[in-house]
Amino acid sequence: MSPEQALTEEVIASFAKTKDERLRTLMQGLVKHLHAFVHEVEPTEAEWMTAIRFLTATGQKCDDVVRQEFILLSDTLGISMLVDAINHRHATGATDSTVFGPFYIEGMPERAYGENMAFTPGTRAIVHGRVLDTHGAPIDNAVLDVWQTADNGMYSGQDTAQPHGNLRGRYRTDAQGRYAISTIVPVSYPIPTDGPVGDMLNATGRHPWRPAHLHFMIDAPGYRRLVTHLFDENDPYLHSDAVFGVKPSLMVAYREREDGVSREALYDFVLDRSE
Ligand SMILES: [Fe+2]
Repeated sequence: MSPEQALTEEVIASFAKTKDERLRTLMQGLVKHLHAFVHEVEPTEAEWMTAIRFLTATGQKCDDVVRQEFILLSDTLGISMLVDAINHRHATGATDSTVFGPFYIEGMPERAYGENMAFTPGTRAIVHGRVLDTHGAPIDNAVLDVWQTADNGMYSGQDTAQPHGNLRGRYRTDAQGRYAISTIVPVSYPIPTDGPVGDMLNATGRHPWRPAHLHFMIDAPGYRRLVTHLFDENDPYLHSDAVFGVKPSLMVAYREREDGVSREALYDFVLDRSE
């Protein structure tokens, strides 16, 4: 065994007495693969310091409320979608999930069926449909926590000029499982590029754009939480999402309504029973 291999083995063995078996698996796996990565790319000491500085800056860019640079890093490296895929491997007939993203804010206003959540300009739209179980039965009183960007591509909270709760809200289904959201058509937007993740995208020639989408986190007692998006099926970035979150089953069309001005999108969500 080479001294380099011996070092790796020694570090792995140092976790052998970890009482929590899962923690031991995680730490030994992490060391094994990090060492393999270092072996493969053979960083210079200056490169390793650059990596330390990058991760330090990623943490320093985070704040308690609106900025979560580590989620952005996880998203842009495809880790978030890999974790999502591993945790939703078995097709159950439920709606596909996708990335949570860094822009959710808890405690947004409760909104009535069909209530408007858009207080900034845009193309008016109604997004509606039902929440069903895997047998097609309606789920009443499901909570749909929704969020999307304004026409300037920024979320309220992130953009402090927007009114509190703009383009955010908690809707509930009625007895027939129906929901309706009055909003604006979402737009494509770049993820924030003023931090280390933006520097990484820039240095590697990647663009920061995400295809237009509306975020959903749907909860109902007895059902598994669904975190997903609805994407505009006509968006130019559907095939190059900066965070790899697009799934073909999550497309909606924003069809023109009879008034010739506003749009309408229809989508039924399906929830899995929780174990
Ligand atoms: Fe988003």
